[in-house]
Amino acid sequence: MTYSLQGKTISLGVTGSIACYKAVDLASKLMQLNADVDVLMTPSALRFLTPLTFTAITHRPVITSMFDPQSELSINHVAAAERADLVAVVPATANSLAKIAHGRADDPVSATILATRAPVLVAPAMDANMFESPATQANVELLRQRSIYVAGPAEGRMASGLVGRGRLLEPAELVGHIRILLGRAGDLAGRKIVVSAGGTREAIDPVRVIANHSSGKMGYAIAEAARDRGAQAVIVSAPTALPDPTGVKVARINSALEMGHALDRECADADAVIMAAAVADWRVAQIAEQKVKKTGADTWTIDLVKNPDLIAGIHADRLVKVGFAAESEDLIDNARAKIQSKGLHMIVANDITAEDAGFAVDDNRVIILDREGSIERLPLMSKYDVGVEILDRVIPLLGSLA
Ligand code: PMT
Repeated sequence: MTYSLQGKTISLGVTGSIACYKAVDLASKLMQLNADVDVLMTPSALRFLTPLTFTAITHRPVITSMFDPQSELSINHVAAAERADLVAVVPATANSLAKIAHGRADDPVSATILATRAPVLVAPAMDANMFESPATQANVELLRQRSIYVAGPAEGRMASGLVGRGRLLEPAELVGHIRILLGRAGDLAGRKIVVSAGGTREAIDPVRVIANHSSGKMGYAIAEAARDRGAQAVIVSAPTALPDPTGVKVARINSALEMGHALDRECADADAVIMAAAVADWRVAQIAEQKVKKTGADTWTIDLVKNPDLIAGIHADRLVKVGFAAESEDLIDNARAKIQSKGLHMIVANDITAEDAGFAVDDNRVIILDREGSIERLPLMSKYDVGVEILDRVIPLLGSLA
């Protein structure tokens, strides 16, 4: 994926919890996405980690004190707050949540939050009883009312050995939440985008299926690109090995018929549907209830019946319909015919014989055709970037159908 935080400054406020070590990984992940990362540490955080750990990763000085004459915060106490595109408090202790909720400003993290106009994310980490306590719950509620984004905590085992709700989210998941918050006012805010992904499976018997090579990567990447621009993104997903993207609803199905039902449900109030799934055109006429036994015969004939054309069958007002065409020959002609036969606004054609694109790899090389006759050939790019290109063309259609 080529999602980038180039040009974005994230202020990372680290407060005193044993979960601090995950903030180091988060800082590293943000740097890998090309963000500029300013780290601020509270005195308690300094008991768990040294500033050098973060400086080595972010290549910037760490703000640790309000009064250190060497520290930027003592010269201009709002500089980091003003520079930030987003302030993330990771981990956020019960004490730091209380301070933020009540407008205290007696350490670099709470002072920066009070001074910033950027969106703020807090990721709580504490013992489950502390998190569930009425005081912390009231503070969290207050923060939510003030549009502060509360990410987590997760259920699980904590450093104390107890199990409960209080674990800091994993850094990869926190990156997902940061992407959601940065994209919240994006050009797809308020829109619902449904994406189908993966290869459907048609059962033959309780053991065997008819499947295909789709990994789901194309559809998942489109959904993430939509989420990053503020959309409510939903994936109707055939079985894949991919993790659920943070902040994206994933409706899991197996067969084409199940995908059809899920699409009908999700598209009723959607603005666009993008069918990246490889849907089986045929299903087994009679699924065997028991495992079919090997016989003496050398061949086995299975009767198939046609599946409905799912995208052609979706009828909803103001719904933009985008199909994919997986072709091994006559790419343009076949794709153009599918725009007509499936009632699409646009189709994304890919040559599935290419080794560096199409099924299961991270990149794709597509041609985008629309019903007005335009044909755009795009170079090889990441599937995330293909998603961005598709959405760039969907957005004007949303306006014209509104
Ligand atoms: O998942 P990946 O490994 O990342 O691979 C991505 C991909 C190659 C699967 C993807 O880019 C792609 O090409 N998806 C469409 C595959 C396909 O089924 O193409 P098709 O030409 O058979 O179908 C045309 C369109 O009709 C597709 O949007 C398909 O989802 C839809 N369709 C097909 C059959 C059917 N019964 N109902 C449908 O809605």
